[in-house]
Amino acid sequence: MTTRGGALSDRVYRLFADLVRRRTGYVLTEAHRPRLETRLSADARAAGSFYQLFGLLRNEPTSSPAFGRLLDAAVNSETYFFRDPPALRAFAEEIAPERLLAAGTDGSLEVWSAGCATGEEAYTLAMLLLEKGALPGRRARVLGTDLSPANIRRARAALYGPHSLRATSPERVRAHFEPADGGLARVRSAVRSAVAFDQRGILDDAAGGAAFDVIVCRNVLIYLDEEARSRAVSVFCSRLKPGGYMLLGASDALAAAAAPLTLVRLANDVAYRR
Ligand SMILES: C[S@@+](CC[C@H](N)C(=O)[O-])C[C@H]1O[C@@H](n2cnc3c(N)ncnc32)[C@H](O)[C@@H]1O
Repeated sequence: MTTRGGALSDRVYRLFADLVRRRTGYVLTEAHRPRLETRLSADARAAGSFYQLFGLLRNEPTSSPAFGRLLDAAVNSETYFFRDPPALRAFAEEIAPERLLAAGTDGSLEVWSAGCATGEEAYTLAMLLLEKGALPGRRARVLGTDLSPANIRRARAALYGPHSLRATSPERVRAHFEPADGGLARVRSAVRSAVAFDQRGILDDAAGGAAFDVIVCRNVLIYLDEEARSRAVSVFCSRLKPGGYMLLGASDALAAAAAPLTLVRLANDVAYRR
């Protein structure tokens, strides 16, 4: 048995990777290993060793704080505001207006950002809805969900630095953010109040729960194994309102090939429609 980067051996790393994959579908590769080792070193010391930590986590529910720290260490959370302009234009200029019309005067537009990381995607969708005049009167809501408890805590705090804002125009920074301590920017309350966050895995989202007009899941399915990808797409299909849209990233799209949805070519992007 070889060890690399300290006390996390190949064999024990594979045990952690199998555990995460079985519980969430997320595939840990060799690239995740140094981060896992660094971030879990305090827990491993407290447990006695990485192997003993694995023994503890194996018996913990996925929703426990200790298992949450494993997920925080495992996931890739790269994201930023106004990522992928064509998809956002499709959402703001084509999909949202159509779905708001379908909702009628009494209905509301329900949007789910699945795998929202630290919240930038969910807030971006709400900012676009605000720019379109859809938010006043609570006519639209965005739900962001993510596997990682730390990501969801950061999303709820709504505080961001330059890395998250690197693709946001100065006009939008002024419109949607207020200055905060430490040179950070805080999402304004008009946007925050339209967005809620929940820590959970896509596969924990049972079929038949709340229905959505739009499900946005970008740069997430690529991290899952094949079975989890197709289960995730089934969950999405079951959670779309009739006529609702699913927007996947280019790298995630193959997973939807077998979904009972129609591929729609919009002016700005492609989407799947129920
Ligand atoms: C690379 S980020 C993408 C964030 C955002 N969607 C974007 O495109 O900017 C991937 C996120 O997906 C989340 N994720 C991965 N597998 C998940 C699962 N099974 N359920 C929920 N979230 C998941 C990770 O925790 C991570 O925060």
